[in-house]
Amino acid sequence: MAGKHQAPKGTFDVLPADEAARSAMTHATAARLGAAGFGRIDTPIFEDTGLFERGVGESTDIVRKEMFTFEDQGGRSITLRPEGTAPICRSYIEHGMHKLPQPVKLWYQGPYFRYERPQEGRFRQFNQIGAETIGSASALVDAELIILLDGLLGDLGIPDLELKLSSLGSSASRAAYRDELREYLRSHEADLSDEVRARIDSNPMRAFDSDDEGTRVVMAGAPQMLDRLEGEDAEHFAEVRELLDGAGVAYTLDGSLVRGLDYYNRTVFEFACNRLGAQSGVGGGGRYDGLVELLGGPATPAVGWAAGIERIILAMEAPPEPGGIDVFVVAAEDRTSAFALVGELRDAGLSADLDLAGRSFKGQMKQADRSGAKHAVIVEEGGSARIRDMAGGDERGVDLGSVAAELTASAD
Ligand code: HAM
Repeated sequence: MAGKHQAPKGTFDVLPADEAARSAMTHATAARLGAAGFGRIDTPIFEDTGLFERGVGESTDIVRKEMFTFEDQGGRSITLRPEGTAPICRSYIEHGMHKLPQPVKLWYQGPYFRYERPQEGRFRQFNQIGAETIGSASALVDAELIILLDGLLGDLGIPDLELKLSSLGSSASRAAYRDELREYLRSHEADLSDEVRARIDSNPMRAFDSDDEGTRVVMAGAPQMLDRLEGEDAEHFAEVRELLDGAGVAYTLDGSLVRGLDYYNRTVFEFACNRLGAQSGVGGGGRYDGLVELLGGPATPAVGWAAGIERIILAMEAPPEPGGIDVFVVAAEDRTSAFALVGELRDAGLSADLDLAGRSFKGQMKQADRSGAKHAVIVEEGGSARIRDMAGGDERGVDLGSVAAELTASAD
């Protein structure tokens, strides 16, 4: 016998029972971001590999070892998108969005793919909601986006949240800091993990993210960019903090927050839910003023964030459950009339269902109960019916022809 197929490692099926929490999230996001002037954008699930190599950065874990990359039948190298920011910048450039009034505010939701080691809260196909504001260097944008994500996580009832905030300065000031950090890492080379040691030259800041014990001890004493902010970088960060303070959004300054993508400068942030285990990051982002230009567009400042839908659901105290239907129709004998009535009720805008498996009367009543319906309609012989209130158990007799009118009136 052939073996059973299973969903690939690190992936999962979203079953009807899981769907309520996901639609609640889509609605909450559309409501909050829509009210703040964001329009929804959807880009393709695959892109040219070069977009991510350039946009996310050759020395990042994502590009080095986590991309699902393949050659298509035309010999092009294609990658399943590991993140949404580079594709949205590609789209901004391709559609000349720089000619629109700036900044352009976009939100999105969809699946992303990373070849990571699967564990609780970490998958190879996962879903993100995200927001990008492209075309303004103002600190108002950084603050607006952080406040929106804070509000959205609040709408969704996520408890025990901590907002970590930092600034990476400008790329020029970071170059000097990187040299200082490289020197520090070299002077502690013997205590570092092989992986961190191998990346001292190419990406020294990733050492802050290492979970190797020896490296962590070294990094606890490492110089931090946050203490070296100067001039306009320092002013920008002070303004972001002032706006967050004004909005009553609490944060922890965390100079070890570097994020796993190369495009960031100035503000970076992450929301962690402290009741989740190792994968506690529910959402994060930052400013990426160089990315649009790097991808061939005009110099355009931007900020954005993305949040993981599965992690948010894991963090929810009481994930929404699927709601019941309005009416379950039960046939005493006449299944054809019951079937016709269900059609009539659906046309009248009610959610209605019936037994499709030839169950006995008793079996149908049980099913009506299980369906969570507010009412059951029992279709009797001779054109009459009974409407049963499932919560209270009250029943009243009506003509079959007036059931739809009775029920739509009671639904108003
Ligand atoms: P990121 O931090 O890589 O940022 O991902 C954002 C969120 O996606 C994470 O906080 C986490 O909740 C979720 N996530 C990431 N990887 C996985 C995974 N393997 N399994 C489950 N959930 C995951 C970005 O993707 C940037 N594009 C954010 C951004 C937008 N920055 C500027 N604009």
